[in-house]
Amino acid sequence: MTVRPDDLLPGGFVPPQAAGATYGEFLHLDALIAATDPVPDQTDGRVFVTVHQVFELWFRLILHELEAARDNLFAGEVPDALYRLRRTARVDWLLVSQLDALTTISPGSFHDLRPHLGTASGFQSVQFREIEYLSGLPDRHHGTYRPRDPAERDRLARRLREPSVWDAFRDLARGRGVTDLVRLYRSGPVDRELLDVAEALMDHDEGWAMWRMRHAVAVERIIGRKSGTGGSSGVHYLNSRRDERFFPELWAARTHL
Ligand code: HEM
Repeated sequence: MTVRPDDLLPGGFVPPQAAGATYGEFLHLDALIAATDPVPDQTDGRVFVTVHQVFELWFRLILHELEAARDNLFAGEVPDALYRLRRTARVDWLLVSQLDALTTISPGSFHDLRPHLGTASGFQSVQFREIEYLSGLPDRHHGTYRPRDPAERDRLARRLREPSVWDAFRDLARGRGVTDLVRLYRSGPVDRELLDVAEALMDHDEGWAMWRMRHAVAVERIIGRKSGTGGSSGVHYLNSRRDERFFPELWAARTHL
């Protein structure tokens, strides 16, 4: 097989179609598996690294799905938006259960691993923040969280500037003459399709809220009330974020019914 320079994707990857690729080539498994090293030379180094890396891959997919859902909502393409949002919520809930693998790390083993992590922390996950902003959560760190890498800073600034999924939902609702979300939730809803979108958003929000809780409890089980490697107060900080919601107006609508 001959690969011409024009066939190469950014990063020098060979596009599978051009290459008649094998399974390993199609999935770039050499690069993917190589990226799981170096693992800190510790009993639980590999599980710690693998779980975090897998999370980032899922975060990438969630960002892709949410972007598409937002654009579908702005375009009034409700079935397509629902298709994307349902997948997003499934992945959110998958992430909740994936934390189970981490709780197999004993406190003593993590204590030994911790010095190898330096100041690295999930707190610095840019994709996690991007999901928050793209969903509609404002910047809670008031700009104080600044990634070291300028490209990452640009990505976050762009996410904060661009419309969120929530903006797109509000736009769709306004276009359909629905301004009162409480009315949407009354039985015999004014707009069944819009209600389906609202509930798909709730699935995403609920999944993310569950992740926050599961992560906080898993962390407490592993490090107790110690501070985090990212410099926060640890579980105290995580608990302070437990009530964050992407779509507070949808949650409030229930209260006001
Ligand atoms: C042994 C396992 C883990 C421990 C002990 C742990 C601990 C912590 C702590 C203490 C914080 C607070 C910030 C800090 O000071 O570092 C934090 C934040 C965070 N962690 Fe973890 N974590 C673990 C696993 C994970 C995994 C697998 C992910 C998946 C990507 C993750 C994602 C995050 C995120 C996104 C935040 C920021 C949350 C926010 O700002 O609301 N963590 N973690």
